[in-house]
Amino acid sequence: MKSLKSIKKWTLTKSLKNNNFSFRRNYVLKFVPSLLLINAFKSISSWKNYKATPLLRLDKLQKNLKLNNVFYKDESKRFHLKSFKALGGAYAVEKISKGKKNIIVSSATAGNHGRSVAWGAKRLGLKCKIFVSQYVSETRVKEIKKFGAEVIKVKGDYENSLNECKKLSKKNNWKIVQDVSTKEYKLVPQLTMAGYSIMIREISKQTNQYITHIFLQAGVGGMAAGIVAGVAKYFKRIPKIIIVEPDRADCVLQSVKHNKLKKIKIKKESIMGGMSCNEMSYIPWQILKKASNCCVTVSDRNIARTVAMLKDKMLSKYSITGGECSAPGIISLIGACNNTKIKKLIELDENSNVLLIGCEGNADVKLYKQLLFKGRK
Ligand SMILES: Cc1ncc(COP(=O)(O)O)c(C=O)c1O
Repeated sequence: MKSLKSIKKWTLTKSLKNNNFSFRRNYVLKFVPSLLLINAFKSISSWKNYKATPLLRLDKLQKNLKLNNVFYKDESKRFHLKSFKALGGAYAVEKISKGKKNIIVSSATAGNHGRSVAWGAKRLGLKCKIFVSQYVSETRVKEIKKFGAEVIKVKGDYENSLNECKKLSKKNNWKIVQDVSTKEYKLVPQLTMAGYSIMIREISKQTNQYITHIFLQAGVGGMAAGIVAGVAKYFKRIPKIIIVEPDRADCVLQSVKHNKLKKIKIKKESIMGGMSCNEMSYIPWQILKKASNCCVTVSDRNIARTVAMLKDKMLSKYSITGGECSAPGIISLIGACNNTKIKKLIELDENSNVLLIGCEGNADVKLYKQLLFKGRK
């Protein structure tokens, strides 16, 4: 088995200090109101088989990096969906259906969100139509179909699948449950983010250590903003917030840099599929443009290795199933610790209690096996 020596060479590919940083709880909770957060926890915690996901400690990594604690929220154990996304789409379906049984819900997805919507529809006995682009893997399609949803494959990318979803939903009066917000479409994404915030509600009861830093993976920024809303509501002290993206899909970093929503061009898709997004969602932008201290990016290079290290107990005493979107949180923490300037900027030291979000397990079983195999070589 390889040692942890090689991680000394791991680097961030980009880093940016947010010059407009100013965390105010009231400002954050204006965009995802407190009542929404309370209601989300009340509902989701009453679902069958609800259990807080484990808050593990990556004790071997924390020792290697000379940090006080490195916590890892293991979302591979979230219901049986193996991802934090189970908290968002399914909850939004419950809220917008308002107990009606004769509605049909629809959504466009890169994978996990659609699974959550399909599962939420199945829980309530509703019909469901999920639109996916040609790039969504067959494994992910199968996982969605398992919950009885009809999957409609659309030529082109995610945006094409979303347009087709909107067109057919309007024509057939299906209720769209989308996790991406625009100026005009806010409520469903807000409900989705409120669902995600319960990760922080759980953590606030799982440790009495004050979290000093949170590394948050971002695609369109929904998960990061939901977590930040949870922090504003449930944490006594505000930790430093570091946003992590694939270097080929850095729409948050570019937006923060230019202090306006930036749409970027993705030249090549990252292996971190769920995070390979070209434009931020509107409400997450409003939140993260103020609440994030710093944005960083990582390449695909160490993803497989990190997946294998988690599984093979190299980072902690536990064997952890963490997929391609769980790895970048760990990689960016290591990269930050190897970068004297960033380390100093975000004040990472022997007193730091870092929180990482293990957002998904082997949600795409085939890809997970490939990564594990590659990472162990
Ligand atoms: C599986 C998965 N999909 C998507 C995302 C991105 O979420 P969002 O688009 O809400 O930023 C993440 C994590 O950031 C993830 O782990």
